[in-house]
Order: sequence, then C-alpha cells, then structure tokens
Amino acid sequence: MSNYTYRDYRPGDEIALNKIYKDTFLEFMDPAIEPEGVENFLKAIQPEVIIQRLIEGKRSIIVAECKTGIVGAVETKDGNHISMLFIDKSHHRQGIAKELMLQAINRFREINPNLQTIILNSSKYAIPFYEKLGFVCTGPERKRNSVLSTPMEMNVSNQMT
Ligand SMILES: CC(C)(COP(=O)(O)OP(=O)(O)OC[C@H]1O[C@@H](n2cnc3c(N)ncnc32)[C@H](O)[C@@H]1OP(=O)(O)O)[C@@H](O)C(=O)NCCC(=O)NCCS
Repeated sequence: MSNYTYRDYRPGDEIALNKIYKDTFLEFMDPAIEPEGVENFLKAIQPEVIIQRLIEGKRSIIVAECKTGIVGAVETKDGNHISMLFIDKSHHRQGIAKELMLQAINRFREINPNLQTIILNSSKYAIPFYEKLGFVCTGPERKRNSVLSTPMEMNVSNQMT
C-alpha cells in the first residue's frame, strides 16, 4: 500500500506549502535564473499570496501527505492549466507527482468532459518528467517575471479517466 494520501487544500496548509515550494525551487531551479526571478518566485509563494490566489478563484490545490505531513502539491488554474508542482526532495521518485497530475487531470475532465488539452510552463528540470506523462514542448524556453520556463501541453481528448 502507498505511504501517501492525497486530498484538497485545507486552510493552514499554506505554511507547509510555502516551505516545500521554497526549498524545492531553490534546490532545483535553473542556475541561470536571475536574482529578480528568485525574488519574484519567493513573493508568489508567500502563504498570504497562496491564499489570495485561491480566493480569486478558478484555482485549486491538491496536496500529497504522509505521516510526517505534506510532502508535495499541485496547483491548477482555469480548468486546464497546471501552475505549480513541487515534491519535497526526500520523496522524489515515489510516484507522487504522477499521482497528483493524474488527479488534477481527472478533476479537469470531470468539470469539462470535452477538454482537449492541458497546458503548463515547465522548469528545465521537470521537462523529462512531463514528457514521460505525455506532454510535449510547444515552444521555446521563455522568460516571464524573470523566471525561465518552457510551454508544454498534452492532448487528453482521447484519454480514459
Ligand atoms: C519533477 C518532479 C515534480 C517529479 O516528482 P516525482 O514525485 O519525483 O515524480 P514521480 O515519482 O511521480 O515520477 C513519475 C515518472 O517520471 C519519472 N521522473 C521523475 N522525475 C524525473 C526526472 N527529473 N527526469 C526524468 N524522469 C523523471 C519517474 O522515473 C517516473 O517514471 P515511471 O512512471 O516510468 O516510473 C520533482 O522532481 C520536483 O518537485 N522537481 C523540482 C520542482 C520542479 O521542477 N517542479 C516543476 C515545476 S514546472
């Protein structure tokens, strides 16, 4: 049986999420990132900013936890966009990100059974992971808010849930 369980965000989770987002980003970010990019990212993951994103709507967070607490999360927006995916380093390669992605994709498809594509902007590090799931790069790496990412998408129109 898996050591991990998955559930929706609950108020208070933003503290643990901030730590996982921050520690994982700083460890796996592209070394070429500009200081301003790091600063912008750290601002975007402040606990109050996470809450604000959820209040503004069309966003949700699914968290993965084990007996020690939250170990990873996926944030979604707009019914077809994966916007954050971070797994604590000591829990990598346990299938957590894949399960979070499957759950997020199934949610999208429950809301819109005719959904055609899921989109995201990948860090350089995560591209091989997303490719394993079936995503393909749809353009060159680009810089937004001083953070580099590559646009990717996956066609889900023929997939079974
Ligand atoms: C990328 C990341 C989310 C993957 O999380 P994970 O929980 O370790 O991934 P999983 O264990 O679910 O892996 C699923 C599959 O992808 C493969 N995979 C995972 N990370 C990989 C990597 N860095 N390179 C190549 N393949 C990878 C696994 O081997 C597995 O393959 P399998 O299904 O054939 O066994 C995690 O490494 C992470 O948090 N990275 C830093 C933050 C980041 O870059 N996030 C993305 C922001 S866009």
